[in-house]
Amino acid sequence: MQSVKERILELKKQKNAVILAHNYTSPEVQDLADFVGDSLGLSQKAAATDADIIVFCGVSFMGETAKILSPKKKVLLPEPEAKCAMASMCSADQIRQVKQKYPNATVVAYVNTTAETKTVTDYCCTSANALNVVKQIPNDQILFVPDTNLGKYVKEKSGKDIILWSGFCPVHQCVTLRQVEELRKQHPGAEVVAHPECRLEVLETADFIGSTEAILKYCQKSDKKEFIVLTESGMGHRLEGACPGKSFYFTAQSLCMTMKMISPESILECMEKETGEVVLDAETMEKAYLPVKRMTDILE
Ligand code: 13P
Ligand code: SF4
Repeated sequence: MQSVKERILELKKQKNAVILAHNYTSPEVQDLADFVGDSLGLSQKAAATDADIIVFCGVSFMGETAKILSPKKKVLLPEPEAKCAMASMCSADQIRQVKQKYPNATVVAYVNTTAETKTVTDYCCTSANALNVVKQIPNDQILFVPDTNLGKYVKEKSGKDIILWSGFCPVHQCVTLRQVEELRKQHPGAEVVAHPECRLEVLETADFIGSTEAILKYCQKSDKKEFIVLTESGMGHRLEGACPGKSFYFTAQSLCMTMKMISPESILECMEKETGEVVLDAETMEKAYLPVKRMTDILE
């Protein structure tokens, strides 16, 4: 009798499928994937693949972004109900309302937004390029949605007139200065690396701030052997694999529960039955593509 892993590998060949997984998915899921990375890296892989099916192990906005970039491909979500809490804090209608107050503002949407929300925005960005994107926009007034923490960070670094939204990631919002100080006491030689979704006062204490993939690259290059990592603890698996002999410490309860819904079994079921397909109407795809394309143009 074949194991779940063997069956998934067989289906991958049969159906010309590729498995992409975010850094926060569980170790068993990451180990099955063809590519594991941050939101930016995953969207680049989705755009470049010649597979017929993309099995996207991540929260739903990530699968939608893959679909926007690869409209002819079948994008399957093993757990379509795995949503990002922050993405649900900003709807297209709410943006339309706020835009009435700031008609001259350029709207920059963090990629952690639904495809529908992206349709009413001007530029997209990820945690890897938010500062770069905002700096390159000719307008000084920016409505930055939905992450208030990333918005504050970009405001401080760019000096632009950033209008903040009140969204946040529950996982990163719960990281407190007290927890960081406690971990520093326990591991006095450790460097602190943080994701920009953390609160500004927490970011100010960090030695390095970056996307999940940038954190990984930083820890690989650093001479230090210990790191306090202020992001979701799924990163531990990738960090340990990529940095042998180094140790990583996380704050308690740094878990994105929806990312953890995805399992080898749910991947297998979705590949067998081709369930969880991301379906977006043509108008949404067309309108949501524009801000994503503007982001990729800036990166080139
Ligand atoms: P990255 O793009 O840095 O992987 O972040 C995605 C995310 O959801 C962080 O909470
Ligand atoms: Fe969304 Fe936070 Fe989970 Fe990232 S960690 S997917 S921002 S809920």
